[in-house]
Amino acid sequence: MLLQSPNHPNVWIFEHPVIQDKLTRIRDHKTNHATFRSLLNEIAGLMFFQLSRNFKTVETEVRTPIEKTTGQRLADPITLVPILRAGVGMTDGILGMIPEARVGHIGLYRDEETKTPVPYYCKLPTDIASGPVLLIDPMLATGGSASYAANVLREHGCDDIQMVCLVASPEGVSRMEKDHPTLKISTAAIDRCLNDQGYIVPGLGDAGDRIFGTV
Ligand code: PRP
Ligand code: URA
Repeated sequence: MLLQSPNHPNVWIFEHPVIQDKLTRIRDHKTNHATFRSLLNEIAGLMFFQLSRNFKTVETEVRTPIEKTTGQRLADPITLVPILRAGVGMTDGILGMIPEARVGHIGLYRDEETKTPVPYYCKLPTDIASGPVLLIDPMLATGGSASYAANVLREHGCDDIQMVCLVASPEGVSRMEKDHPTLKISTAAIDRCLNDQGYIVPGLGDAGDRIFGTV
């Protein structure tokens, strides 16, 4: 149940009841960081299962204990790229589905005044462009962080990039549509708006703080 947003053709929304149930529990201000983290990883795993349905496969010979036959293997190496910190909160859930994925990291934080991303770390596989790349961040607010990270990936030659988040704002998806029109974004929700502090409303607060218990 991944539906294309009627207002944002670059965005697909997971309307699956199990994902929506977990999202609602995550939003709850009473949810502690241990539960928040498990729910987020569970959602990420469910999302990845759907997002990976178009990954290319190659026919491969395999010898079972009984006879030789053919099967399908994933054609290209998959790279997950969480944006630090909060993207890490979805990565284990996806690795649970695809343990062989490589993991690159892009470290960014939002300047509190300007709300623009400040880069502090980047480590990516040298051949990252040889397969699909999944950019991971639970929050797409102004879109500044995601747009910056997508630029970094493009500079590394990646053209097969999609983004997965948990909650997006209309402002963030519009920004991504403008900066990266071919990049598909999948999310569990597009919320109402941003507030004066650049937080998503109703949102879930500061994702990094809620994942890591640094509130
Ligand atoms: C949060 C979030 C995104 C960014 C989204 O990170 O995880 O990376 O804000 O905001 P934007 O769309 O306006 O750029 P934050 O800067 O709070 O850093 P943290 O994950 O280290 O807490
Ligand atoms: N970053 C967050 O963690 N939450 C928001 O609502 C916006 C940016």
